[in-house]
Amino acid sequence: MSVTSHAQTLSGKTALITGVAGNIGHATAREMAARGARIIGIDHPEADASAIQQSFAADPSFALIRADVSREADVKAYVEAARALAPSIDIFFNNAGIEGPQAAITDYPTAAFSRIFEVNVLGVFLGLKYVLPEMQRQKSGAIINTSSIAGLVGAANMSGYIMSKHAVLGLSRTAALEAAPFGVRVNSVHPGFIESRMLTDIVHRLGAPDTDAFSATVPLKRLGSVDEIAKAVAFLASDESSYMTGHAMVLDGGLTVG
Ligand SMILES: NC(=O)c1ccc[n+]([C@@H]2O[C@H](COP(=O)([O-])OP(=O)(O)OC[C@H]3O[C@@H](n4cnc5c(N)ncnc54)[C@H](O)[C@@H]3O)[C@@H](O)[C@H]2O)c1
Repeated sequence: MSVTSHAQTLSGKTALITGVAGNIGHATAREMAARGARIIGIDHPEADASAIQQSFAADPSFALIRADVSREADVKAYVEAARALAPSIDIFFNNAGIEGPQAAITDYPTAAFSRIFEVNVLGVFLGLKYVLPEMQRQKSGAIINTSSIAGLVGAANMSGYIMSKHAVLGLSRTAALEAAPFGVRVNSVHPGFIESRMLTDIVHRLGAPDTDAFSATVPLKRLGSVDEIAKAVAFLASDESSYMTGHAMVLDGGLTVG
């Protein structure tokens, strides 16, 4: 019987991660690297990437590519750049996203609606459009799209985000069906209230003093951590989840169960 060390479940694999400079992208890059993967990170040209660059300062195989995921030319270019750096793209964490404003539908700025769809929906779609051919040619690969509990249930004053994350779920399921004949798996993750910049900003914009009112509503009575999301994504990226595709993995402390 062969035993694979948990620490090396991604050994020899190359992972492409969008939104790598953000809280969840950064934690996942670290988790995947700890499990043996080579990381090629993508983030917006204007994003502060100093923390992720510092994390990987001692790793010469790490690369950061600047791209706006909502621009088709940028997406095509980041996939080509990744292929020039690595012989294969084995893992794609299609994760970059924005939360948009908090406002009722009657007050929701139309320009913000458009931008949230450009990043969260078109960006995820374009990532699939350009990464899938590489994986389908390889006849292997694992893709994880970041949705949210906002992709499963509604929430007042977040219509743009809610709609965009529901769209990611539908897109993931469709991609799973299209990719399955090639041996490529596509799953989605649905984080709940995660201790992060994004949640803190939403809480403040909703006028709450802190995240306590949010964690009180969670059956596990606490926020999730970015490391808990990273571990789940690393599992979905690994051969340990080899019979899972089209799955919507919910990481919300039980929030949407009842
Ligand atoms: N933090 C949470 O509580 C939470 C919960 C559920 C889902 N999510 C989702 O998880 C993902 C990561 O969120 P996070 O918490 O790490 O947020 P974050 O804001 O820390 O990270 C998002 C990253 O995406 C990048 N990005 C945004 N627009 C981009 C663009 N057009 N092109 C390239 N990069 C772009 C940002 O620069 C940033 O580095 C998002 O899709 C988010 O919607 C987050």
